[in-house]
Parts: sequence; structure tokens; C-alpha cells
Amino acid sequence: MFVFCRRIFLRASLACGMVAIVGIGPVPVVAQESAAAAANRRLGRGLNLGNFLEAPRGANWGVQVEDRHLKMIREVGFQSIRLPVRWSDYASEQPPYRVEKAMLDRVDHLLQVAHAAGLNVVLNHHHYQGLDADPDAHRERFKVIWRQLAERYGHYGDWLYFELHNEPHDKLTAEKWNAILRDGIQAVRPSNPTRMIVVGPDRWNNIRALPDLRLPDDPNLIVTVHMYEPFQFTHQGASWIEGPVRSIRDRTWGTPEEVEQVQGMLGQAAEWGRQHGRPIYVGEFGAYSKAPLESRVAWTRTVARTAESLGMSWAYWEFAAGFGVYDPQAQRWRQPLLDALIPDNPLRATSD
Ligand code: BGC
Repeated sequence: MFVFCRRIFLRASLACGMVAIVGIGPVPVVAQESAAAAANRRLGRGLNLGNFLEAPRGANWGVQVEDRHLKMIREVGFQSIRLPVRWSDYASEQPPYRVEKAMLDRVDHLLQVAHAAGLNVVLNHHHYQGLDADPDAHRERFKVIWRQLAERYGHYGDWLYFELHNEPHDKLTAEKWNAILRDGIQAVRPSNPTRMIVVGPDRWNNIRALPDLRLPDDPNLIVTVHMYEPFQFTHQGASWIEGPVRSIRDRTWGTPEEVEQVQGMLGQAAEWGRQHGRPIYVGEFGAYSKAPLESRVAWTRTVARTAESLGMSWAYWEFAAGFGVYDPQAQRWRQPLLDALIPDNPLRATSD
């Protein structure tokens, strides 16, 4: 994204990254990428480490990410990971809402290995269900958890990004979320004045909810949206979804109208970003393994290429579970999905 400046004043000139020239008359139009847009570009093509640390405390959802996986993820061409963590299960229920050291140590290790592998990391607070169900009761706790995380990671480089809360929904309406997200940003800023913070709209980070998102005047924000449209295709057969979608089978995807729908929705997000001067990160998209593989591949390729053509970064949902681009049993990438995500991956030649 570019910032266009047509100002003659010193402050505006500096804000636009220009050499300060104070004078009269218009200065030439200068286009320069904002720090947030540059940071978003560095997220590039990313992968969610889903079904791992966002499982409830003590539960195992079948994914164990090892150090070698992080290296492999980088080697095939991903530039970033998103690390969903259910921090709310690792903080005390009562003040001072202390986050457990053992969990912090575990996350520290992953962050350091990811960084050493050359990956940028979006550290996310995932499945804080209390905040969605009763925002007022959890507001303070949400803030204090973020204050602790921010203090812990304040000295980390700009390869680490914070994402405040995955998919606000339920009682966390746009109005409530717009207020609470400010608390989150304020909790982070004293220890991390310029850290990139990722934040998305209510209704599960839905693109249609972007018009209701109100952000503070902070330049170092990246806006995230999740893309699972059409839901009847991407979530067919998904046991965790209530209602008829879980019994849909064999639904294919890829008619010209369907392609247009996906492109149109992402286009809306890009347009919102352009109008509000915010870079957009498609922080989750994916089609569950019950959907026909050929259609999954076509849909995945369409979302990834469309997002890229609109200047957005993305993170595929997810690494090695039900949507997985990696098969943990066979210990190999699912090549058609990997090719759809990263056309120039180094393993491609061997599959052609
Ligand atoms: C949820 C996952 C779910 C995925 C796709 C994520 O945000 O946390 O549990 O599998 O969306 O539905």
C-alpha cells in the first residue's frame, strides 16, 4: 500500500518518509509503503499451526509440531506462521491473571526455532471463549493477559506480530469488540510501541463485518479477515459445525460464478483496506479434507492467487490436521495443496 502526500508542512513530509523541504507550493507526489504495509508484505505466504496449542489445556488434538517441522515449512517456501494459542487456559482465573511460565517457555522455544528458520510469526490469542460469551466479565483479564505477553516479548525483533483475539463472535458484537480491541492495543503499546498488531472484525473475522470495525489512530496495525466462502463447500462434513453443513458431502467448487464470488469478496476486503489505509492479512482460509480434493486445490489456489494479486498476505488453515497441507502419518507434504499454495515450491518438480 502506498501513502500519497501532497503536503508542504514539515510534519506531514516526515510522516510520509520524505526529506523535509519546507516551502511554498506543492511538492511532488511521493509514494512510499507504510511500515504496516511493509510488515504485511513480509508475512507473505503463511501457514497456521492449527489444532496444536489452541487445543484446551491437557487435550491433544493430534498435532505435535517439532522443531524440524518449522524448518521444513520455511524450506518449501512459506514466509510466516500463525501460532494460535489458547492463552486463556494458561492464565489464572482471578487477578493478577498470571500466565503460566511453563506455557510461556514452550512458546518461547517455538518462537526462537521459527525465527532461526527464517519465519515471521503471528502470535495469536485463540479460542478465548469467555471473552466471546461474556465480554464485560473478561475485559480486564483479556487486557492483563496481553500486558504480560507484551512485556515478555517486547525485546523480540519485528519478525514477531501479535494478534489480539481470533474470530470475535457471540456476545462480542462489533460495538463491544471495537471498545475491547482498544484495551488490547493499549495493553501492548507501553512495552511494544511499534510492534505490528493484527486485529480483525467481529462475526468471526468476516469480510462482511469490516464496515463495522473501528480502529484507533495507530499506524502499526494489520487487519485480518478469514475466508471460508462458500462455507457449505469448505466445511462440508465438518463435525464441529452445527447444522446441516456437517452432513454435506461431495460438493464440488469451481464454476465461473463461484470463482467470481471468492474474488469479489476478497476484492471487498482490499477495497476496505485501501479506503482505510490498512494492509489486509487473510489470516485463515482452507477447505476441510471431506471436500473433493480437486475442488479443494482449485479453491485454495484461487484464494491464494487472488489475495496476492490484491496485495494481501495470507496464512493457510492449517499445517497437519483436518485441512492439512502436510500429512503427518506419511510425513510428507500433500503435494497438490502445496503446489496450489506455493507454485514455485522446491518439491514441485518431483511431483510433475
Ligand atoms: C478454528 C478451528 C477451525 C477452523 C476452521 C478456526 O478459527 O479455531 O477450530 O477448525 O477455524 O473452521
